[in-house]
Amino acid sequence: MDRETLGVETGAPTADTLAMLERAEGFLRKGEYAECIEAASQAAISMPNYFRPHVTIGLAWWRQGDMLNAAESFATSALLNPRHFDSCLYAGRAYMAQSNYQAARKMFEAATNADRHSTSCRVWLAHCLQSLGDFDEANNIIHSTAAQLDWMLPKNKRISFQHAPWFLNHIQIWRDKIQPYIPKNGKLLEIGSMEAMSTLWMASELIDSHGIVVSADIAYRDSYASNIRASGLRERIISIVGSSVITIPLLLAGSFDFVYVDGDHSPEMAFADGVNALLAAKQGGIVCFDDYKNQNQDTALGVDTLVQCFGQNIDFIHEGYQLIVRRKSDSLVVDFPNNPKLASNMQWREAIERSRVQDFSALGSGQLAFSDG
Ligand SMILES: C[S@@+](CC[C@H](N)C(=O)[O-])C[C@H]1O[C@@H](n2cnc3c(N)ncnc32)[C@H](O)[C@@H]1O
Repeated sequence: MDRETLGVETGAPTADTLAMLERAEGFLRKGEYAECIEAASQAAISMPNYFRPHVTIGLAWWRQGDMLNAAESFATSALLNPRHFDSCLYAGRAYMAQSNYQAARKMFEAATNADRHSTSCRVWLAHCLQSLGDFDEANNIIHSTAAQLDWMLPKNKRISFQHAPWFLNHIQIWRDKIQPYIPKNGKLLEIGSMEAMSTLWMASELIDSHGIVVSADIAYRDSYASNIRASGLRERIISIVGSSVITIPLLLAGSFDFVYVDGDHSPEMAFADGVNALLAAKQGGIVCFDDYKNQNQDTALGVDTLVQCFGQNIDFIHEGYQLIVRRKSDSLVVDFPNNPKLASNMQWREAIERSRVQDFSALGSGQLAFSDG
């Protein structure tokens, strides 16, 4: 319970302050940021100890991409109300954007105190500690967060990570939305293995010793290799090295129960990997696209174009930070988007045809039908 809820120190906000704040939030919703900051600043002046106006001001700066001012506003709010989780988390993230890792650490620790079970906050804290070079403490956080999510494998201290453990954020959704579709002897494919965090979760949680994970990456990292060795799950994992546009079409099309697309997140590559992932998935197989809602990347442009082209072949399972779909048809029918800009700039058709040609050479039979309609 925060200080506002308790009615301590801040006192109850007056009707006038609330009205000013409401106006400010209205401006925020409409994207009128200067007006929002003006109105929220008046609310802050009228009640200097009240944290909420600073949250609104922070959001207005955040949405304009001004992380310096956003950090200051959220940090002020966090100072006034250290138990306000969002203020601490957003302040930490805004400090991270400025590479101010010491300040970010304090904020993420405060956020973790406000909500001990928030996975996303613990993931940010681990990432921040890695940025500070404190890999032991980062791994402690990663291991305890995995354990909170009932994933015990990383408790093995020889499994360790040097890069941000974003995958932990997805575990709960994957349990709900993906796991029910995957047989224990399933055949799984991942594009983008990094340090094997997602690889190991798939190998330990989605399948048993009768299943297999094919993990593809353009690089083969020492940390990937040592984590696989330490996991005791080596027998369940096949590693492929090389660019996915070359390696994935060589795999048997229509044969995977699950494909995780988490490689190069540029729109063109997300699109090309997506085509190959749909081809690799069997009928009823699941395909998950990472970073679909990542504001800093244009991955969604590639994935949305893929959906325009292949929409009639898929059912939607989940749309959030990741997009999860299910291939419903045996053969894939392609609709080209009627958007000439996309067609000329991104050369979608060429990408599809390249995939198809490679698919033909691997399969010796056609799977795609084209409808230009
Ligand atoms: C976000 S990381 C994958 C994280 C991993 N799936 C996890 O959750 O633990 C993206 C990975 O894609 C790999 N990658 C980038 N471009 C690639 C390409 N063209 N082909 C294959 N892998 C690629 C990178 O080397 C990197 O390891």
